[in-house]
Amino acid sequence: MSISVCRSVFFVIACLAASSVRAAVNFEKDLLPVLTKKCIDCHKAPYEENGKKKEPKVGLRLDASWAIVKGSENGPILTPGAPDKSGLYEVVMLPKDDDGHMPPKGDDLTSEEIKLLKTWIEEGADFGGWLGSAQGMPAGAATEMAKPHKPREHELFFTALEKEVKPLSDDLLAKAKAAGAQVAPVKVESPLLRVDFLTGVSKCDDEKVAALLPLKENIVQLDLGRTILTDAALKTLGQLPRLISLDLRQTKITDAGLESLSGLKKLRTLNLYGTEITDAGLKHLAKIKSLKNVYLWQSKATKAGVKQLAAAVPGLKASVE
Ligand code: HEC
Repeated sequence: MSISVCRSVFFVIACLAASSVRAAVNFEKDLLPVLTKKCIDCHKAPYEENGKKKEPKVGLRLDASWAIVKGSENGPILTPGAPDKSGLYEVVMLPKDDDGHMPPKGDDLTSEEIKLLKTWIEEGADFGGWLGSAQGMPAGAATEMAKPHKPREHELFFTALEKEVKPLSDDLLAKAKAAGAQVAPVKVESPLLRVDFLTGVSKCDDEKVAALLPLKENIVQLDLGRTILTDAALKTLGQLPRLISLDLRQTKITDAGLESLSGLKKLRTLNLYGTEITDAGLKHLAKIKSLKNVYLWQSKATKAGVKQLAAAVPGLKASVE
């Protein structure tokens, strides 16, 4: 159900409830068919073909929940709550000509499927009881997978923020919709919002971002990656007091623009992958003491700059690789 069919206040509430229930991604129903179709040929339990044993690529199996949790021969590929720290998400987002882009051949994931994957990880990467292939499963893995999830750190963070925010009005929603944004509650019945422009990145400019201002109290997650915004939009973003996670990957922002973000008090995750940001820009970020993760892969920042930033913000993880 799209928000566009919601007219009256009551209808908006009904629609939001329905869309937020739908926002919870069901792994087995929504994602498993995608992985089975587009990934599993190369990432499944060892098998024999024409007398030859075939091993999963990079030791990564996607045919069982415990195997996805275990990861590849290079380590874990999934960080519940953080798509940007999850190789599983990163590889499908890599540019098509990148050697690491998945799948390396055949149909790419559609933008809808990518969004499902992202949402599923953001919601905690819950397999909902799905186990998958038990071939090669280590003893104890099944009971480990069946354990209930501990509330994640950022969920607790949301709970605290929710107390400060008024619920949405239909007026606010209409404004965001007019800007071409996709808006969803971060979880069922939360007034906190996740916003992206994934259906129209090439149309999302500074003006569209400015049109989000009426929602400024409620936005906690904002994905503006690959949009055509400039530094002017960062002035808008600097006014979102509860922004926790911001994705600016592959945009034309500059070092000077980052100064506008330096007043954000809650920002924890910032993705600057594939931007022109240099060490000069990182100096502005040093003022954001809440920062936990900054992604600088394929930016112009150096290891030395990252080291200085990490020294200025205790607990910050940043990497240029
Ligand atoms: C045609 C075979 C093939 C298909 C299909 C395929 N992969 Fe891969 N996958 C590979 C190979 C080969 C690598 C190693 C690439 C490299 O290191 O350059 C890899 C690497 C990866 C990695 C990185 C693991 C690590 O830790 O290094 C992830 C994650 C991954 N694939 C996920 C997927 C997903 C998700 C899909 C479906 C959208 C998929 N793969 C489809 C062959 C495939």
